[in-house]
Amino acid sequence: MNEKTTTNNNNHLLIGGVDALELVSKYQTPLYVMDEEKIRKQCQTFMSSFKHNLVNTEVIYASKAFLNIAMCELIQQEGLSLDVVSGGEMFTAITAGFPASKIFFHGNNKSIDEIKLALDHHIGTIVLDNEDELKRLSSLVNKEHKVRVMLRINPGIDAHTHEYIRTTKNDSKFGVSIFDPKTLFLIQSIHNNPSLEFVGFHSHIGSQIFEENSFKELATTNLKYIQHVKKQLGIEVKELNLGGGFGAHYTKEDKPFSLESFLPQLLETIHLISKELEIKTPKILIEPGRAIVAEAGYTLYTISGTKETFGGKNFVFTDGSMADHLRTALYQAKYHASLANRMNDQVEKNYTVTGKACESGDIIIKDVMLPVPKENDILVVYSTGAYHYSMSSNYNRLLKPAVVFTANGKSRLVVKKETYEDLIRNDLRLGK
Ligand SMILES: Cc1ncc(COP(=O)(O)O)c(C=O)c1O
Repeated sequence: MNEKTTTNNNNHLLIGGVDALELVSKYQTPLYVMDEEKIRKQCQTFMSSFKHNLVNTEVIYASKAFLNIAMCELIQQEGLSLDVVSGGEMFTAITAGFPASKIFFHGNNKSIDEIKLALDHHIGTIVLDNEDELKRLSSLVNKEHKVRVMLRINPGIDAHTHEYIRTTKNDSKFGVSIFDPKTLFLIQSIHNNPSLEFVGFHSHIGSQIFEENSFKELATTNLKYIQHVKKQLGIEVKELNLGGGFGAHYTKEDKPFSLESFLPQLLETIHLISKELEIKTPKILIEPGRAIVAEAGYTLYTISGTKETFGGKNFVFTDGSMADHLRTALYQAKYHASLANRMNDQVEKNYTVTGKACESGDIIIKDVMLPVPKENDILVVYSTGAYHYSMSSNYNRLLKPAVVFTANGKSRLVVKKETYEDLIRNDLRLGK
């Protein structure tokens, strides 16, 4: 059992006050369940803690972690802004009625069509990644409608996290390096463009970061660069977006720091360093994704049985797969799980949880202690709110699960389970 879980008298897991088995019978498995109150609480923690009486701030939800129309509505209700990285994410936000002025359009390879979509809908800020993007954007803008832009810079900071979710090493595909002399020319040309309003820099050092110092180092390096830009070009950088990356709890090895105490400290540090560097303290923006949704998510699976291999490995077979749970295969991510219908049973054995995909790498959890599972037991995998639904695929033509929000003992469907018809909707016949 997870230390933060609640159960009822039948030893069933409760998610947002709803019995996990009730959810299974209503919506089937595999099923993504999001505890709505947990998401809202995280939003409120970021909004109330990322404040300083001398520093302007903004909290932006990184929608790549988990996005659908209901989530856009929730984020709007909680007052956060929204980061999108593709035409698809942008379209979802626009369709949900999310205020365009509060949308930040990121990504390292924005197409002409995506930029047009952003301009047509007056998306608030475009975060440019490189010179080519500047050329593409410049070809579409005019002086009558100035576009707010930021530039993604790479401060070369090495956050201690998995290589694939680390983004600011010098050879990262994102942004332009602050050590590259050409970057100053790029800043100058953005600034000189009469159709653009250059507001500042964006950087993001990676994900699942547990070291407060990584963020402080990021802020300090960026502030020094802002000073450098002021000295070299006479350009005052008004805004600094420090990206996301705040860690979440997956297993007991993960120890996220307290946002309530760290975020005000970070702002105070930024204020003091700006003073020392004799620059105006920029507005500071952050972009958490994972930390807002990861721990609110639970995936429910039906177990069909177990298999002990000749080599001595114990598998648990579920009706899920790497198609709905990719992070283990992709990043060797670790998870914790329980039997949602036998929450108080003693754990007995170590298992590898797998699913239906035709891949040896189809691993949901590599090692987890469980009671001996029986057919039709329900497995719950914890902390699956971030980068699960959003990374899900139809590999093996498996159907993407439904997404349900729970709160105050009630559940509501926010994304329907796919059907076989959905799978073939865009397929065209070869004909004769
Ligand atoms: C530009 C940018 N901002 C924010 C995030 C969110 O990161 P996290 O979910 O770790 O908070 C990411 C994640 O990749 C990102 O690329």
